[in-house]
Amino acid sequence: MQMLNLEDFIRKEPKIIHGYPMVCAFSQNWERLEKFQWRPDDIVIVSYPKSGTTWISEIVDMIQNDGDIEKCSRNAITEKIPMLELSVPGVRMTGTDALEKMPSPRLIKTHLPVDLLPKNFWKNKCKIIYMARNAKDVAVSYYYFDLMNKLQPYPNSWAEYLEKYMAGKVSYGSWFAHVKSWWDKKEDYPMLYVFYEDMKKNPKKEIEKVMQFLGKNPDEKVVKKIIHHTSFEMMKNNPLLNFTNVPSKMMDHDASSQMRKGIVGDWKNHFTVAQNETFDAIYEKEMAGTTLKFCTEV
Ligand code: A3P
Repeated sequence: MQMLNLEDFIRKEPKIIHGYPMVCAFSQNWERLEKFQWRPDDIVIVSYPKSGTTWISEIVDMIQNDGDIEKCSRNAITEKIPMLELSVPGVRMTGTDALEKMPSPRLIKTHLPVDLLPKNFWKNKCKIIYMARNAKDVAVSYYYFDLMNKLQPYPNSWAEYLEKYMAGKVSYGSWFAHVKSWWDKKEDYPMLYVFYEDMKKNPKKEIEKVMQFLGKNPDEKVVKKIIHHTSFEMMKNNPLLNFTNVPSKMMDHDASSQMRKGIVGDWKNHFTVAQNETFDAIYEKEMAGTTLKFCTEV
């Protein structure tokens, strides 16, 4: 097999995998996902990109470690909660290799749509936490992320990027399809569906929900510690959580940051009136017939 390295994947367009646009670097050797050995005690954190995955991931790790910050500081979040589909030739171990070496219970991050999860995944019935965020704030956050993330095509102007996003032509495909298909999946699978906006409004309530889902008693002291340790300001300044460990040949840390603003409603600073009208019309069509509801301001 031809040896590939990082340079082959910088600023490349996504590749189509089973009908979904996938980060070009990750699309290589996709069979590794089909061969991956799942364990029944895996906890899988699923989200569309830029929905607060890092936030919920650290919360889950804190819960699993009963609020012990020292234990949670054992490694950078990118290492302690590997992303299943990650593959960056010449720079990092693949997500599947990293996970195979990990003791149970593992925390696993993925942005995969329901259809792309390997078929052998479902029989394990391991717990899934799905994190969802409103489409407009995700669009803005994804745009800034792609300015810094060299594994994605350069986003060019906001207007150009928004067109691509609305058409589902960005990595991991349509936001609409992602949130809807995972919402439907919860009807026949043990999973918890969490909203970014609810977490902003009432972190205590949402953290307690996650604890209950994971079979832990919501101890007030632990909950308080988690709220503090996973606040936006704390995470932004924590080098283990803010992605500054990711090498600059992969991420241009001068272009933007992983912990950028952390608010609900930043879309209002970016969408023009016309863009908002177009977006709302598409939204209405795409979301017709689902019971899934988002709020775009708090
Ligand atoms: P913004 O770009 O809008 O600031 P992901 O982890 O899925 O890549 O999502 C990143 C988004 O979540 C970024 O959004 C980031 O600022 C936000 N985020 C991360 N930690 C957060 C926290 N503790 N509180 C609120 N938002 C947070």
